[in-house]
Amino acid sequence: MKATKIGIFDSGEGGLSVLREIFKLLPQEKYVYYSDNAFCPYGDKSIAYIQERARFITDTLLDHGAEIIVVACNTATSAAISMLRSTYPVKFIGMEPAVKPAALGTKTGVIGVLATAGTLKGSKYLIAKGKYEGGIRIEEHAGDGFVDLVERGELTGPHAEEVVKRSLAPLLDAGADVIALGCTHYPFLLDTLRKVAGPGVRFIDPAPAVARHLVSVMEEEGLLGHDSKGAPIQGQIPEAPDIELLSSGDKGPLLRIFRLIYPQAEQS
Ligand code: DGL
Repeated sequence: MKATKIGIFDSGEGGLSVLREIFKLLPQEKYVYYSDNAFCPYGDKSIAYIQERARFITDTLLDHGAEIIVVACNTATSAAISMLRSTYPVKFIGMEPAVKPAALGTKTGVIGVLATAGTLKGSKYLIAKGKYEGGIRIEEHAGDGFVDLVERGELTGPHAEEVVKRSLAPLLDAGADVIALGCTHYPFLLDTLRKVAGPGVRFIDPAPAVARHLVSVMEEEGLLGHDSKGAPIQGQIPEAPDIELLSSGDKGPLLRIFRLIYPQAEQS
């Protein structure tokens, strides 16, 4: 059976946290990942700017053979996915703010949301928030400096803890016991986030749910290249994705995070 090529992009290396979850479900497919790290971060950029980048990246991914595209960036999903869907004939899968699972899981009645300033201002998040606010309290904060930490590969240590604490403290002070990670860079900081938050606080990474959604869309579109349910075929599972790594800037940070999640992979 022919493998489908899945295109994935982010403002930087954060989208690899989404690729990691997709690859667990679809190890036989091929991948092309675009890190827009020369233009990172997106969090404080205008919608028009992000849409222009999203168009350029989509053209690049299509030139590299992508047949379906995952916008592995909450900020770009919020700013550009409607425009992309009305411009291109391929399917686009976006990120969802995990407000619903957080709201369903809280015991204190307070949830936290960490995301970029762009995502927190976007209509996608505001609509999700409007649905659940009232029954519970929603405290949100931009993860100031988080994207920088991940792009530099500084995922743990006293300085990372200090940076994380500044944005996390207001959510913890408000009593949040479940915190949704609304930026794909943030799951790489989970060890530090958990250390700073202490026990009793749960973090939700929406990437596994996005990966499951991708499988169901690919199934509907007839794009699943192996087992019809996307199930891994025993004995034939590659250790790392068959992936082309592209970036607008220095490839070093991209390779660093890629090797962190796939230490056995050979990539240049
Ligand atoms: N990883 C991105 C997101 O999910 C973008 C972070 C940024 O570039 O500001 O929002």
